[in-house]
Amino acid sequence: METNEMYVMPRIGEKAPSFKAVTTQGDINFPEDYSGKWTILFSHPADFTPVCTSEFMTFATMEKEFKALNTELVGLSVDGLYSHIAWLRTIKEKIEYKGMKNVEVNFPLIEDITMEVAKKYGMIQPGESSTKAVRAVFFIDPQGIIRTIIYYPLSLGRNFDELKRVIIGLQTADAFGVALPADWRPGDEVIVPTAGSCGTAKARMQGEEGEMTCYDWFFCTKKLAKSEVENKLGTKL
Ligand code: BEZ
Repeated sequence: METNEMYVMPRIGEKAPSFKAVTTQGDINFPEDYSGKWTILFSHPADFTPVCTSEFMTFATMEKEFKALNTELVGLSVDGLYSHIAWLRTIKEKIEYKGMKNVEVNFPLIEDITMEVAKKYGMIQPGESSTKAVRAVFFIDPQGIIRTIIYYPLSLGRNFDELKRVIIGLQTADAFGVALPADWRPGDEVIVPTAGSCGTAKARMQGEEGEMTCYDWFFCTKKLAKSEVENKLGTKL
C-alpha cells in the first residue's frame, strides 16, 4: 500500500468511514449502529497514561450531558481489549481526580490493535507518533456525516467545554438555519444567512427586517434566546 493510502484523512462533509469493531461494550457496526444519533468518535494515545486518564474521567462524567443532546461517545485506542478493561477498572477503583471518583466508563472503547480503524480515520499521524493515535475527535451527525474534526497532540488534553459547545453549535446551526460567530454560546446573537434573503444593506442597517443588527451588508446578526435553543435541542443548557 502507498504511504498516502495508509494515512487517509476523512474530511468534513463526507460519510464517516464504516467499520466493525470489538469494544468494551460488545461488538459495534459503525456508524450504522448510531443512525439517528449524533456521535463523538474519539481516539486517545494509550491506556494507563495520565492525560488520557484525565480525559476519560471527564468524558465519563459528562456522558449524561452528551446523551441529553442525543449524542453518544465512542472511544478508541490501538490497545487491546484486556488492557482497556484493566485500565477502566483501575480508573473506577483507584483514581480520584479533581472531585471525580468511582468513575465508571459506560460508553464503548474500541480495541484497534491492527490500527485498521485508526488509519481509516487519520488518527495515526506519524510526525507525532507512528505507534499511537493522536487525540482525534470526530463529530458525526445522525445521517452518518462528519461535521467537525478536531485533532490534538499527545501532550495536550482536550477542552471539554469546547467539545460540548461544538455539538450544541452544530445542532443549533442546523435547527435554526443560522451560522454562529466566534466564541458563540447559547443566548448569544447568531448570524443570519447572507445575500439575497435579507434585502439591501441600507434596509438591513435600518433594522427593517426585525431584530437584526448589521455591521455591514455581509454581516448581520439577530437575537436567539437561550430558551429557544433549549426548547429545540430538548435540554437545559
Ligand atoms: C498521556 O495520556 O499522558 C500521554 C499519552 C501518550 C503520550 C504522552 C502522554
